[in-house]
Amino acid sequence: MENLKTKVAIIGSGPAGLLLGQLLYKAGIDHIIIEQRSAEYVAARIRAGILEQVSVDLLTQAGVDQNLNKFGLPHDGIEILSNGLKHRIDLSALTQGKQVTVYGQTEVTKDLMQARENAGLCSYYEAEGVQIHDFDSNPYVTFNHNHQQYRLACDFIAGCDGYHGVCRASVPQDKIKTFEKVYPFRWLGVLADVPPVSDELIYVQSERGFALCSMRSKTRSRYYLQVPLTDHVDEWSDERFWGELEKRLDDESRKSLIKGSSIEKSIAPLRSFVTEPMRFGKLFLAGDAAHIVPPTGAKGLNLAASDIAYLSSALIEFYLKDSTEGIDQYSEKCLKRVWKAERFSWWMTHLLHRFETESDFDHKIKQAELNYILDSKAGLTTLAENYVGLPYELKKFDDMQNLS
Ligand code: APR
Ligand code: PHB
Repeated sequence: MENLKTKVAIIGSGPAGLLLGQLLYKAGIDHIIIEQRSAEYVAARIRAGILEQVSVDLLTQAGVDQNLNKFGLPHDGIEILSNGLKHRIDLSALTQGKQVTVYGQTEVTKDLMQARENAGLCSYYEAEGVQIHDFDSNPYVTFNHNHQQYRLACDFIAGCDGYHGVCRASVPQDKIKTFEKVYPFRWLGVLADVPPVSDELIYVQSERGFALCSMRSKTRSRYYLQVPLTDHVDEWSDERFWGELEKRLDDESRKSLIKGSSIEKSIAPLRSFVTEPMRFGKLFLAGDAAHIVPPTGAKGLNLAASDIAYLSSALIEFYLKDSTEGIDQYSEKCLKRVWKAERFSWWMTHLLHRFETESDFDHKIKQAELNYILDSKAGLTTLAENYVGLPYELKKFDDMQNLS
């Protein structure tokens, strides 16, 4: 058994763990990342691709904004296609100039991994049998790596190990409450090296079900279709995919749709999930380990980033200012923002998807709600301010900048 010691043990090398590591490094706080998968696997995972301004600011603060500035696509608006009619939501005009940035989570992960490598920081990839212990008193983590057993003593454990991770599962049942909703359909996603159908994202509500036209760049498109739970990816040839997407679009978009071979195709479930609280003694949960949103609101990565904003500032405050205020408020502050994003993601999902079980009356009411939103300045503003991201307390960010 080899004994290691650090201040913060970070479990999981997804965007949450990597971003926390980078921010702690900038503040000079010792930490180690332990990840069960290989670095290649982590860097290749394909996920969503919309960053709120506050997430861009955090990546900038972490010093990993070079590629983001070069290749990220700032967007001032989105479109909602409903009943064959396109409505532009002018995000910037409705939110005093705020934007979102199209930049793939895969790229965010790669940039963070590269920054970590450049700084020579310690990560254990392909760690086996990761377990966390004694997080109420003197926490430590055990794992195997390259046939060697390790015991890592630490002050705190950051559980950034995603929905299926070991951290949340290690909390005694009577100390944790979870809230969950699973949706009765899934998203079939296709990535293709073809120019996007439009300069802006199009969220499509149609009688045949939801569709989303997104992108990764001006030459790479990302499209999604709502499909039944029973569908298998093998049943969806490229031809069938493009044919169904065309049927859900309006005439103009159909004409400008450029089809091509898929370079990735997968089906993902839609789930809303929240864990309360998000702190258990010296264990903090962050990102997908603590909550999941359906992708319709584009909030998954952004929520992970806001957890990390709170957690990094709390840890920096603890080590550099000897204050436990941030740590004590971590769970409450995160959950307040998390539930607002959960509500928005649920609402967008509910509004834009076709639910097999809804009655004709429910369907009409939903249509009226969408029409109201699209016709009302107040409705549009509500949608826009949630989409670009609700603000969070930035005071600690300034403190952190002074420290780094
Ligand atoms: N030990 C070590 N690492 C683990 C363990 C374990 N027992 N279990 C899981 N992991 C790793 C996973 O392999 C993964 O690399 O934890 C990492 C968690 O990363 P993500 O799932 O990407 O979660 P997170 O960093 O919170 O990012 C949230 O990802 O799913 C999207 O929509 C979500 O965009 C959001 C983002
Ligand atoms: C994506 O580009 O993958 C994407 C964009 C917006 C969403 C969900 C996914 O709401």
